[in-house]
Amino acid sequence: MSPDTAATAAYIVAALLTVMSLAGLSKHETARNGVVYGIAGMTVALVATVVLAADSLEAGAVALMVAGFVIGGGVGLWRARVVEMTGMPELIALLHSFVGLAAVLVGWNGYLEVEAVGAAQTTVAPELVGIHSVEVGVGVFIGAVTFTGSIVAYGKLSGRMKSRPLTLPGKNALNLGALVAFAALTVAFVLAPSLGVMIAITAVALALGWHLVASIGGGDMPVVVSMLNSYSGWAAAASGFLLNNTLLIVTGALVGSSGAYLSYVMCQAMNRSFLSVIAGGFGVESGTAAADVEGEHREVQADEVAEMLREASSVVITPGYGMAVAQAQYPVADLTRKLRDKGVEVRFGIHPVAGRLPGHMNVLLAEAKVPYDIVLEMDEINDDLASTSVVLVIGANDTVNPAAMDDPGSPIAGMPVLRVWEAKNVVVFKRSMAVGYAGVQNPLFFRENTSMIFGDAKKRVEDILTAL
Ligand code: TAP
Repeated sequence: MSPDTAATAAYIVAALLTVMSLAGLSKHETARNGVVYGIAGMTVALVATVVLAADSLEAGAVALMVAGFVIGGGVGLWRARVVEMTGMPELIALLHSFVGLAAVLVGWNGYLEVEAVGAAQTTVAPELVGIHSVEVGVGVFIGAVTFTGSIVAYGKLSGRMKSRPLTLPGKNALNLGALVAFAALTVAFVLAPSLGVMIAITAVALALGWHLVASIGGGDMPVVVSMLNSYSGWAAAASGFLLNNTLLIVTGALVGSSGAYLSYVMCQAMNRSFLSVIAGGFGVESGTAAADVEGEHREVQADEVAEMLREASSVVITPGYGMAVAQAQYPVADLTRKLRDKGVEVRFGIHPVAGRLPGHMNVLLAEAKVPYDIVLEMDEINDDLASTSVVLVIGANDTVNPAAMDDPGSPIAGMPVLRVWEAKNVVVFKRSMAVGYAGVQNPLFFRENTSMIFGDAKKRVEDILTAL
């Protein structure tokens, strides 16, 4: 078998494993297999690339490749081992930035090997140099947008940057202007490739990526992460064209389209316009602020909550980011078992963007062995909340905020929320009266049927268990 045929065969196997991995990851029951397929696919791809390239490489290049494997693999393994579940989204955002940076470097390398030295000295056929130049421009552009966009997303998710959207005057015109400039620069680059134009394309794209993500804030960040996931896929596909590597094109396109679809589904769940979000908050009015919320809240202790639960016939638990921070899922699962043993109907209501990554709450509850069939989606539980005796809001805030429905000026206006306030009693577990991720105060805390139980969610749920 010729090396080329062997490479194609290995790449087809790796691509199929990637498809099987995506299919596996779409369900709880098969997710573990999905991860295994993904690892196997990457291994086949890496081994095939190295083995096939080894003949034509100098010793220095092989040494660099090995060093890259050892250092990159080592850092990756270490980070994956120490990362907390709550730090996952920011790690993912950071990893997307690497894909973007790699695409920029591949693009620059393409320029240095072809356009910079002139067609006569390269392997690219003269009539294909124009196409090569387009690939360089597009690859660098998508890569650079992904790179800075992901760094801003990392900053916002890790709290190093404010999550509030940046609203520069004329922000939509700025984004549009950057796109027009990119198109014009790429045409210029195809007609007369030069270092100056390369630098200009890179700079415009870096600035656009930064501005796009900085303009999106608060509740829309989850969509941004999956959108950057999609961009990183397209960036990899663009690199695939430049490197003439079919596997990169196939896997890049798979990641790109599945990321785009996930963003679309999340936008639908949050009643946001997909186009508005991917265009950096296009069409969102700037400067609207939520009305100030004032009022008195009522504080309760663990024994009072235990009393309420003892008398309840149905309980709904709506967890949020705070449950993840406190790692409260284990006592929450114990509480669920205890109440169910007493004949109380217990169910969970999961908001599509509760926590900090898609499916965050489902993963935690599955980890604590809460049965899947009592874990319901927001739409499945919302109409039942009015007939529920007690709702326990455990470390959730934005996802149960009535202002999203009542206050058109609120930054989260229009986002569907869990209508917990319709229940007979609502108990909110949090440490203080502080705002949630979107930075908006929550009028739920001041409603007559709401009580607050302050402190670390894990500790408080354990106290309730003891009192029961
Ligand atoms: P948030 O609105 O983030 O509120 C979480 C609440 O948990 C906070 O108000 C905090 O109040 C409380 N908390 C924190 N640590 C706690 C602890 N140890 N014990 C008890 N309470 C604790 O939560 P949410 O309702 O889950 O909403 C998620 C938000 O994140 C949405 O705005 C969403 O758009 C955004 N987001 C989601 C994702 C995805 S994909 N899910 C990704 C990025 C951003 P105290 O400080 O007073 O304790």
